[in-house]
Amino acid sequence: MNSIVVEFSNVSKVYHKKLFLGNKEIVGVKDLVFQIYENEIFGLLGLNGSGKTTTIKLLLGLLFADSGIIKILGQTIPDWRLNKDIGYLPEVVSFNKKFSGYDLLTFYADVAGGVSKNKIEEIISFVKLNDSIRRKVLEYSKGMVQRLGLAQALVHEPRFLVLDEPSSGLDPLGIKEIRDLVLKLKSDGKTIFFSSHLISELEKVCDRVGIIHKGQLLRIINKSEWENDSLEDMFLEIITNY
Ligand SMILES: Nc1ncnc2c1ncn2[C@@H]1O[C@H](COP(=O)(O)OP(=O)(O)OP(=O)(O)O)[C@@H](O)[C@H]1O
Ligand SMILES: [Mg+2]
Repeated sequence: MNSIVVEFSNVSKVYHKKLFLGNKEIVGVKDLVFQIYENEIFGLLGLNGSGKTTTIKLLLGLLFADSGIIKILGQTIPDWRLNKDIGYLPEVVSFNKKFSGYDLLTFYADVAGGVSKNKIEEIISFVKLNDSIRRKVLEYSKGMVQRLGLAQALVHEPRFLVLDEPSSGLDPLGIKEIRDLVLKLKSDGKTIFFSSHLISELEKVCDRVGIIHKGQLLRIINKSEWENDSLEDMFLEIITNY
């Protein structure tokens, strides 16, 4: 068994919303328990509002859990030393579109420190942006912005990647390009945490898929299980029986 990269132990998060008369509590996630192993692609599958982004933000230390412990590579988060090990593609990628892809990537490389020009070129080729990297991002298609987002997540050569809905809103070719890149990253030894509601994508790339519903992780399914049964049927059965 590969070593553990991520470990959630009974992690819960409630959002507090101020209303005109009092407060409202909204469950973000509840009692999450799971592990992600080195070099696996772990998918988180759930409906809109099920808690995928909340899980990712907790993992990255962008939100604080109300209870529970999250460890990455054996260190309890938050721990700034983990920044070098984690690459993140957010659900909504927002770049300053007045700059070229190249300017943005070199900026992120400078922030990371010690990234060579060759490495930047290699990443640009990897995400297939060679022809457009000098153009302003405002001229990019959504698929190109997404691939630039992936390049930014990779620029400091992290060993663990967190991708929040990387294929959302892309056309079939854009979806396939992201899928091929994710599979290539796994073959390069990366560990990948991937959230999506696109069942067919999760089915094609993941080793295991966690089903999250109303903030709770109802089940973790192994690839071998959906090779016999369809992941969609299993997912629908699990959430409708909840
Ligand atoms: N900042 C916030 N304030 C209040 N409630 C929030 C906030 N962010 C998320 N929520 C609530 O927490 C729950 C989980 O939301 P989350 O964004 O994690 O879902 P998701 O699975 O990522 O959904 P989607 O597929 O639409 O991206 C939802 O009920 C949502 O309304
Ligand atoms: Mg989300």
